[in-house]
Amino acid sequence: MSDLVVRKILIDMAAPIKARWNGGDAFRSAFFNALSMSFPVGEQYFMDSVRAGLKALPPDQQARFAAEVQGFVGQEATHRRIHALFNGHLETLGFDNALERRARKRIEGNVQINVRNHVGATAATEHLTAIFADWMFHHPEALAGAEPRLQTLWMWHAAEEAEHRSTAFDVYRAAGGSHEWRVRLLRYVTFMFFADVTRQTLRNLWHDGALFHWSTWRSAYQLLLSPTGMFRGNYAKWKAYEAPDFHPRQQDDSLARAWLQNNSDLFTPVGQRA
Ligand SMILES: [Fe+2]
Ligand SMILES: [Fe+2]
Repeated sequence: MSDLVVRKILIDMAAPIKARWNGGDAFRSAFFNALSMSFPVGEQYFMDSVRAGLKALPPDQQARFAAEVQGFVGQEATHRRIHALFNGHLETLGFDNALERRARKRIEGNVQINVRNHVGATAATEHLTAIFADWMFHHPEALAGAEPRLQTLWMWHAAEEAEHRSTAFDVYRAAGGSHEWRVRLLRYVTFMFFADVTRQTLRNLWHDGALFHWSTWRSAYQLLLSPTGMFRGNYAKWKAYEAPDFHPRQQDDSLARAWLQNNSDLFTPVGQRA
């Protein structure tokens, strides 16, 4: 059923990173740092939600998805662990992860809502990460000048996000999740995610002393808002999720698969379920 491989990535995360690790560019570093700060708490939520969603399925459906969910959880657990190490370096540099505290509170506040909606919120976030992943493979310049080990970290994560992009979506559908709620959750998750990442990026830039530099905002425009930027260039893909017959597999992942094939010396598979 599933070909999700859990990989141990062979990079040195013990060596410290610089505040402007992303090519010396203050905005690109601050933005990616904000994303990384969102991952450990977010990925724990995805794992918990999809595992709970699987448990709530009838036995025959559970058998159908068990291996895939195991692969999904294994991949997200590895991401969470590596990004916690990355974030540890940021903490040493004095960056404060307010996003994590806020997200944790929100998750605790929503704990009583239907399991299906937790899976739907996860599927929506996975749509965002799959779009981000595909964009990264088309725009490697987003990491220009970063150390190779950090480029590997981000591309490996992007590749696995592309790889497991339909797991939460399929569990949501198997759990009887509706199209109406799927769309509603995408809008909610998108708003919350971008509000969180924007606030944390500003916080990171303030700590870096780059918040009021012209070059910071020129870089922000280039990365996010230019015609091929991460936000503006991806609106149609984001919107595609609202189609009743949308499925994550409709989105191309050929570059992600090629990256995994061409960089197989950078990781060792630790688990595969067939
Ligand atoms: Fe992840
Ligand atoms: Fe993911």
